Amino acid sequence: MAVKRVGIIGSGIMGSGIAEVAAKSGFEVVLRSRAQSSADAMVAGLEKSLAKQVERQKLTEADRDGTLARVRAVTDLGEMADCDLVLESVLEDVETKKHLFNELDRICADGAILATNTSTLPVVEMAMVTGRPERVCGVHFFNPAPMMALVEIVRAITTSDETIAEATAFATACGKNAVQVKDQAGFIVNALLFPYLNNAARLYDAGVATRDDIDAAMKGGCNFPMGPLELLDLVGLDTSLAILEALYAEFKDPNYAPAPILRRMVTAERLGRKSRVGFYDYRK
Ligand SMILES: NC(=O)c1ccc[n+]([C@@H]2O[C@H](COP(=O)([O-])OP(=O)(O)OC[C@H]3O[C@@H](n4cnc5c(N)ncnc54)[C@H](O)[C@@H]3O)[C@@H](O)[C@H]2O)c1
Repeated sequence: MAVKRVGIIGSGIMGSGIAEVAAKSGFEVVLRSRAQSSADAMVAGLEKSLAKQVERQKLTEADRDGTLARVRAVTDLGEMADCDLVLESVLEDVETKKHLFNELDRICADGAILATNTSTLPVVEMAMVTGRPERVCGVHFFNPAPMMALVEIVRAITTSDETIAEATAFATACGKNAVQVKDQAGFIVNALLFPYLNNAARLYDAGVATRDDIDAAMKGGCNFPMGPLELLDLVGLDTSLAILEALYAEFKDPNYAPAPILRRMVTAERLGRKSRVGFYDYRK
């Protein structure tokens, strides 16, 4: 079955970015937010992003109009009924996601793929609350979704070959390089990346170097485009904490035990760019 209509659940950083990628790639997109105000904000954000691309001559006006016409923002989950692939990108919390998969299973057509953008959580847990565990997989985009080339296609032990092939074809049609990985916490990228980010937060907290010097060191010394503390702010400290907790729960490796500073910052609502303050201050 070829995917034509894609449902995206969650209009946060990732949901909005994936909606833009899919609509630009020619898919019909139904984006579901819980609140009408977030749905409206997502459409306004998309308009702004596309307008910038037209200004920079990276997109024609006709393609901008076509992309916008392909996106429908809704609040009713029932609108997912005629989507061929539904990709959830809500809060990184397994109970929230399981509840959603259970509802989607009741709403969506039998053959539809139900996918998760989770960074670390066990895909099989979401699969097993549905009556179609063979049609459930991970489709893990990276942040910011319109710019990052990679998508990890995650195979739970229940996922069928057909589902993996269709999800891979979807990611490829979105212009992404798809890699396949089994359902193990952190998949490839976050399993390798998060011990590094976590240890950067520990170095900072221990006063080994300043924020700016830690970031400058990794940019200048390793040729990374961003420093680790900047990257934590981009990902979101709440999401980063949830990712580390899931990794630690799975492996009990001390490198994954969240740096205490991360938990303190999340409690203080210093979530990074999304709350406009994290390791850096974005309010100025
Ligand atoms: N931030 C990243 O760099 C990144 C990268 C790849 C994947 N992810 C994954 O994408 C998913 C979303 O992350 P994000 O960064 O977009 O987070 P975000 O905080 O920007 O957005 C989360 C969205 O979930 C919604 N939400 C919260 N509770 C909900 C509930 N109970 N039911 C339904 N919706 C709910 C919020 O309203 C919001 O729209 C997570 O699974 C995360 O691990 C994040």
